[in-house]
Amino acid sequence: MDDEIPRTMKALVGNRSMITRILNYACSSSSGDGVKVTTVPVPEIKDNEILVRVRCVAFNPTDFKHVDILSPRGAIIGCDYTGTVVRIGSKAPGNWAVGDRIAGWTHGGLYPDRGSFAEYLKIPGDLAWKVPSSVSDEEATTFGVSAVTAMLALNVRLGVPWIDDTGLAKGRFDSPILIYSGATSAGIYAIQLAKYAGLKVVTTASPRSHDFVKEYGADDVFDYRSSTAVVDIIRSYPNIKIAMDCFSEGGSIEFCAKVVRKNQGRVVTLLDPGTTMAAP
Ligand SMILES: NC(=O)c1ccc[n+]([C@@H]2O[C@H](COP(=O)([O-])OP(=O)(O)OC[C@H]3O[C@@H](n4cnc5c(N)ncnc54)[C@H](OP(=O)(O)O)[C@@H]3O)[C@@H](O)[C@H]2O)c1
Repeated sequence: MDDEIPRTMKALVGNRSMITRILNYACSSSSGDGVKVTTVPVPEIKDNEILVRVRCVAFNPTDFKHVDILSPRGAIIGCDYTGTVVRIGSKAPGNWAVGDRIAGWTHGGLYPDRGSFAEYLKIPGDLAWKVPSSVSDEEATTFGVSAVTAMLALNVRLGVPWIDDTGLAKGRFDSPILIYSGATSAGIYAIQLAKYAGLKVVTTASPRSHDFVKEYGADDVFDYRSSTAVVDIIRSYPNIKIAMDCFSEGGSIEFCAKVVRKNQGRVVTLLDPGTTMAAP
């Protein structure tokens, strides 16, 4: 198998100058040639890494945000992937075998040898998971950034108990959580994690997405465009004190802060609000 690995591969790389990226940042625009397909070396792996032949990728907003603002020329774009293990570093954790079907995410958009929108990618052995045969490549590739984001927000930042091998969390509790914009990619994972942990899941979504978020476990849904949504949530869930803002733009952070304010609660946002805010 190792002999079949070529020295070069096709990859999608960033193609914007630093000046264009600074202008994009300053003007909130997306100008200039964003990306190009080019030929680059197949990544060299370190002892702790594995080389993966990429079979499937998924898009995230962070991909185009990197291209607009952060990605130097030549950086390989893309984070989420499913693929096959083709080479294993001598000390790579994970007990991998050549041919294993794996999925995960890498921090694409910053480095010339690290990114998923390419024929091969390298990854530390302990930053991937084996894909069960019942899960398709397309399904597996949607877990990466969004599922990890939901876990970091809920389990690490808000202290929601982790799910164990049985699919349930230790120390289940029955208090409510607000997941703002539950129909987003991260929101769908957050709803399920919170539900498995025993929380009462209160979410916001457009009416078109109400059935969708309920299908994934939301207990109650409010339309974020309704002028009474904040008051309606507080009235229905007066003890709510944790929130995850899966949109984090255009007033959503203030919305969440108002909901948890009376209980001096906490809001986790997915984008940097710029400053630490007191709840309005
Ligand atoms: N996904 C991640 O893992 C992740 C990680 C870090 C940061 N982020 C950031 O989080 C944001 C969402 O990313 P995503 O990938 O989760 O998006 P996405 O899956 O594309 O989200 C689509 C959903 O966003 C909702 N939406 C659209 N406009 C809205 C608005 N004005 N207010 C509230 N909700 C609105 C819509 O839900 P309705 O149908 O209910 O209107 C739509 O279905 C992006 O800014 C992204 O950079 C995402």
